[in-house]
Amino acid sequence: MTRPEQEQLDRKLEERLRYYRDIGIGPFFRRRGPAGGEVTPAQMRAAAGTHAGPARAASTAAGGAPNAMTRSRAASTTAESLLAAKMAALPLAKGPSLFEAAERIQGDTLARIRADLGDCTRCKLSRSRKHIVFGDGNEKAELVFVGEGPGHDEDVQGLPFVGRAGKLLTQMIEAMGLERRDVYICNVLKCRPPENRTPERDEVAACSPFLLRQIEAIRPKVIVALGSVAAQTLLNTNRSISQFRGEWLEFRGARLLATYHPAYLLRNPNAKGEVWKDLQKVMAVLGLSGRKRRP
Ligand code: URA
Repeated sequence: MTRPEQEQLDRKLEERLRYYRDIGIGPFFRRRGPAGGEVTPAQMRAAAGTHAGPARAASTAAGGAPNAMTRSRAASTTAESLLAAKMAALPLAKGPSLFEAAERIQGDTLARIRADLGDCTRCKLSRSRKHIVFGDGNEKAELVFVGEGPGHDEDVQGLPFVGRAGKLLTQMIEAMGLERRDVYICNVLKCRPPENRTPERDEVAACSPFLLRQIEAIRPKVIVALGSVAAQTLLNTNRSISQFRGEWLEFRGARLLATYHPAYLLRNPNAKGEVWKDLQKVMAVLGLSGRKRRP
């Protein structure tokens, strides 16, 4: 196979994996051991039933000891008990959690976090990025959207969600009765992965402490995780997003809801209805009645 053919194949494979990931199928594993031979259905089933190993970058990078969500809080209400039960059911990656380990920085601000990030070279993405995409919006937002990482347009402009997926996200925000400047929008990664490939473990590990600080500094009521990379990173789980999409979870004192990524909706417009239902739950919590027609 020639190099261009190999690259085209890699791109197709990456696209397909992204699609599966969007709809909550995976993670996929490369079979270890001697090369050659097909993966048998039994092996496939066995792999599907496990979640250890290199899995997806996001989930393993955030990996860790039971975090604040899963440590059993004395649940004084039925809702809290249900939440605790749900979180206990999310399998966690092994190793110390980046988010647990991170200490709260008293009086932290977005400006200080941005200054600490500096002209970041903590991971290899710094070599190919045009701009760091730190985040954008209201420092006092009640609602924070977390995506995966900048794409081409975001890399060029230095702003999150300004490409096609971003336009759809803007429509969704407006349909909720808000404007972009009312909310805060950021990503797990601050630099674009080449060809928009899936974030790698070291990249998420280097970048996610800044995301945590952003969330801690803003202290939103609600966090919406857009897509599986954001959801799995924040929740420190390898579990497929399809298993908890649209359900209220907890993230360090905020309510967290995971929903499909707008890029997924561009490819699968039929899923917009489900996302709109998820956003209506957010609106109910924030006391929003919506303004525009739904996207
Ligand atoms: N997709 C993301 O996850 N984030 C962006 O900023 C743009 C597209």
